[in-house]
Amino acid sequence: MNPEKRHVLLLWMLVCSGMTEAIEPISTSIAVGMAAALTGFLASYQNIFYYFNECCRPEWISFNKTGFEVDLESKLFGQHIASRVILKAVNGFMRDDNPKKPLVLSLHGPSGTGKNFVSKLIAAHIYKKGMDSSYVHVLTSELHFPLQSQFETYKTQLQQWIKGNVTNCERSMFIFDEMDKMHPGLIDSIKPYLGYHNNLDGVSYRKAIFIFLSNAGGKSITQTALDFWKAGRDREEIKLNDLETGLSSSVFNSNSGLGHSGLITKNLVDFFVPFLPLEYRHVVQCVMAEMKAKGLHPDQKVADKVAKDLLYFPKSEKVFSVSGCKTICTRYHNYI
Ligand SMILES: *[C@@H]1O[C@H](CO)[C@@H](O)[C@H](O)[C@H]1NC(C)=O
Ligand SMILES: *[C@@H]1O[C@H](CO)[C@@H](O)[C@H](O)[C@H]1NC(C)=O
Repeated sequence: MNPEKRHVLLLWMLVCSGMTEAIEPISTSIAVGMAAALTGFLASYQNIFYYFNECCRPEWISFNKTGFEVDLESKLFGQHIASRVILKAVNGFMRDDNPKKPLVLSLHGPSGTGKNFVSKLIAAHIYKKGMDSSYVHVLTSELHFPLQSQFETYKTQLQQWIKGNVTNCERSMFIFDEMDKMHPGLIDSIKPYLGYHNNLDGVSYRKAIFIFLSNAGGKSITQTALDFWKAGRDREEIKLNDLETGLSSSVFNSNSGLGHSGLITKNLVDFFVPFLPLEYRHVVQCVMAEMKAKGLHPDQKVADKVAKDLLYFPKSEKVFSVSGCKTICTRYHNYI
């Protein structure tokens, strides 16, 4: 490695470890001088720094479209709408160096259809450390906002967390799990951050990603899928248009965290993404993928057996798996 490259690397390491704040009053040339002096000593440790110090920079945060696309195609089953919409949304957003607002996705559908899994995939293909990245934050109603009596406190806390984390790294990602259990109105406290502002108090939120997960709207999605099935139409014919309008209004009218939310009336959610209920054949695919992921030879007979053991609805037709792929696909939890 040539000396110049080493200096750059060292400066970068200082940036990563937060030392720039400490040396701010000192001129850059002194910093470069320090870096030069330290070069010999630290040169042999640079790889260790590379590996262990996650940093809010492209070395650690960059989107791999190909990898994401491959994973969506080979690991997410029965979700032709969701995979298309999400790929397009994330790709467009990550390619834009100057987005006008943060990316806000709201994923809806019955449980076990892949909402959690997809948010993990997004994290895995943007952050080198995936869900373990210190820039990926999962907020759960039960864990972070359990008490209704603390509503006002939570509002302030949530604002501070978002602000603090985005100040640390503008490419932060926030996953709000269990939106169904969130007290309506709480999420509106972050409304200002989701809009078209250059910055708020000197912080720009426009490169952040917000993802909401909920079962709200699941019934209307399931009904549409069932209607198509009953009409003998291919599930792949279902279009985002067939679902999106009904979805946003049923979410708005729901009791979930997005119920009567200003995020919806102000059009701050970029996409309401529907996840369809899964059929028998998708469950089989899930099991096969699961076996493959575990290093086993995918066995059709075993997959059929597992799929047959699950419950299906409606009672008469038995078209859709009650729990989706949830009970068999530990990969939803073990991914990465
Ligand atoms: C992106 O993902 C593809 C497919 O998984 C992989 O082959 C490629 O090396 C990745 N590119 C980068 C820059 O990580
Ligand atoms: C970032 O968010 C987490 C919650 O996920 C919170 O515990 C932490 O305090 C926040 N960090 C800052 C600097 O606000």
